[in-house]
Amino acid sequence: MKKPFSDGVVSKKVSGLRGTAAVPGDKSVSHRAIMLSAIAEGETLVTGLLEGEDVLHTAQAMRAMGAGIEKKDGGWRMRGVAALRQPEGDLYLGNSGTSARLLAGLASGFPVTAVFTGDASLSRRPMRRVTAPLSQMGATFEGDTLPMKISGGNLKAITYTLPVASAQVKSAVLLAGLNAAGETVVIEPQATRDHTEKMLRRFGVDVRVDGAEIRLRGGQKLISPGTLQVPADPSAAAFPVVAALITENSAVTIPGVMINPRRDGLYATLIEMGADIVFENRRDMSGEEVADIRVRSSKLKGVTVPAARVASMIDEFPVLAVAACFAEGETVMTGLGELRVKESDRLAAVADMLSGAGANVEAGEESLRVTGGKVRGGCTVKTHLDHRIAMSALVLGMAAAEPVAIDSAAMIATSFPGFIDLMNGLGAGIS
Ligand code: S3P
Repeated sequence: MKKPFSDGVVSKKVSGLRGTAAVPGDKSVSHRAIMLSAIAEGETLVTGLLEGEDVLHTAQAMRAMGAGIEKKDGGWRMRGVAALRQPEGDLYLGNSGTSARLLAGLASGFPVTAVFTGDASLSRRPMRRVTAPLSQMGATFEGDTLPMKISGGNLKAITYTLPVASAQVKSAVLLAGLNAAGETVVIEPQATRDHTEKMLRRFGVDVRVDGAEIRLRGGQKLISPGTLQVPADPSAAAFPVVAALITENSAVTIPGVMINPRRDGLYATLIEMGADIVFENRRDMSGEEVADIRVRSSKLKGVTVPAARVASMIDEFPVLAVAACFAEGETVMTGLGELRVKESDRLAAVADMLSGAGANVEAGEESLRVTGGKVRGGCTVKTHLDHRIAMSALVLGMAAAEPVAIDSAAMIATSFPGFIDLMNGLGAGIS
């Protein structure tokens, strides 16, 4: 018998979540807004930036390489440097894979040497996927995992077909391509999030997309658009959305959420499962489509998630698996190989979380099968330094018969500071 409640945080069954929840700015857009502002001509005022630890690590790294970054005027005021400077000391990137991979690309374009370090989770994550193409372009690396030393400058453009569906790898190559001689071409067999391409265009860069090919000429100047507004993060909104669906008497609105079609796979899947989710007041926010999401308690049924949809919901499988526990019938998720190299081995972590809570889950090498039914709860979930496992477990506790505890809530601050207060403000019982 596991000891149910350790010293961690505990989430209890709730009788209804109600109200409006303002979730933080999109993590991917926030990283890119900082990186591009930092190398652009002119000043940029970024509002709605995610002030989570991952993004703050990117800001700190850009500061260390010469950018001016200050919190003022109701946002983050950034002053770009034409050429990144040699940082003094190591660049610590915490838990953030996006910082490590995108900054590897960006720094490669400049004649600097930098050492990236990170926490235990980030230090286990594969970097070969970026160092391989960046080495072909002329950068040199010591280490295939963090700590990793990068020496950049004098790059030449390459044509690179992504061996894995990864926006981080695509972005690393494109960012390096900004300072490479010639035209960089990235071919992505499966479409991944396109925030880098969109954001580069906002800074005046000519990025051409033709089907699966993305082309960018080196040597283009970035010019600040002046202001940038970061929309709310659909991957963060996923937690209150699923929580409202699986608890009775719930009605929640989340304003200004980005609904980029390359990020909306969870929402498409939940709607197929029978979720009462409505996108209202669709509008543009700094080049991204946003909507207010209205969600009510729903009777869900299991579905098979098409493998082609995986990239558009790559971070949402832990919380989808939680929703599937409360759906009638089976939910089948395939093509999940990449989940094994996220902040934790998310496939194993999800399977352990659900089986520990008495749910019916089967894990394959690259798949998950969840059969809905009664969920006991009454367990402590190991989060493995993974924010999305921590938040998914707390959502699980809101609908399980007995409370669910997590070993640590510390990592939630990497992507969703204020998550616990926000959920309790809607009526959750997290203590
Ligand atoms: C991200 C891309 C995804 C995602 C990560 C953020 C990005 O990673 O999981 O949270 O900002 O480009 P991969 O591109 O490696 O799948």
